[in-house]
Amino acid sequence: MLIAENLSKYYGGEGVLDNVSFSLGREETLAVVGPSGCGKTTLLYLLSGLTRADSGVAFLDGELIGRPTSDISIILQDYGLLPWKTVVENVALGLKIQGVFKKERMERARAQLAELGITGRDSDYPANLSGGEQQRVAIARAFVSRPRLMLLDEPFSSLDALTRERLQRTLLDVWKLRKVPFVLVTHSLEEAVVLGKRIMVMSSRPASPVAVFDNPGFGDESIRDTKGCFELLKELRHTVEALW
Ligand SMILES: Nc1ncnc2c1ncn2[C@@H]1O[C@H](COP(=O)(O)OP(=O)(O)OP(=O)(O)O)[C@@H](O)[C@H]1O
Ligand SMILES: [Mg+2]
Repeated sequence: MLIAENLSKYYGGEGVLDNVSFSLGREETLAVVGPSGCGKTTLLYLLSGLTRADSGVAFLDGELIGRPTSDISIILQDYGLLPWKTVVENVALGLKIQGVFKKERMERARAQLAELGITGRDSDYPANLSGGEQQRVAIARAFVSRPRLMLLDEPFSSLDALTRERLQRTLLDVWKLRKVPFVLVTHSLEEAVVLGKRIMVMSSRPASPVAVFDNPGFGDESIRDTKGCFELLKELRHTVEALW
């Protein structure tokens, strides 16, 4: 369970996040939407332990989040793969930090890549992969260390519409298998409805949550075709239009 309590952050005396509180259960996912520059990436940095809040605290399963840990995986806006490491080495990286021996690291990395639909590319370098493939590798790397929380920062925003839908499906499939709670930042309201069991709408900077929607259809592979999805999207759009 992730609990964020009154997280606030300032940069150069200006408020970026203002009293952000929410919780996320073990089998839940949270999609975060908000205007550009409002502080969404900053929120993920605080939750990952990479940046410290100026006030407020966050807990993962009762433990204070104070520094980066292999229990929390973060996928950054630009994939964050190391260009000088091969595909399989990139995925195995998280396991090295955990002290797993090389043979097991490679085996687990390959198995995780296969789960994400990437096979036969182990020795390729990230530069030789398409954006969609790189993103699959980044997701494999995030899942392979069996984290207790995943943080995803607009993971699919640079992909074409079809690849994006495929990867949303892949992420949902892996989530169903692993049930790792995740917080996903997105600019797409539709993506929020596909991937968020709950959807949190942030105000403009300094950002604070202004509305949280429940998404009862979450997990349904054909949610896009449902009336519930249509209604929720309409409600989200109205909320967002009134705020931003
Ligand atoms: N390290 C930093 N030092 C100073 N200001 C920063 C720093 N990181 C972020 N900011 C500022 O904080 C604000 C929020 O940035 P953040 O990247 O969190 O926004 P965002 O909601 O993720 O935006 P986008 O939707 O464009 O990705 C911005 O005004 C940004 O310029
Ligand atoms: Mg951002």
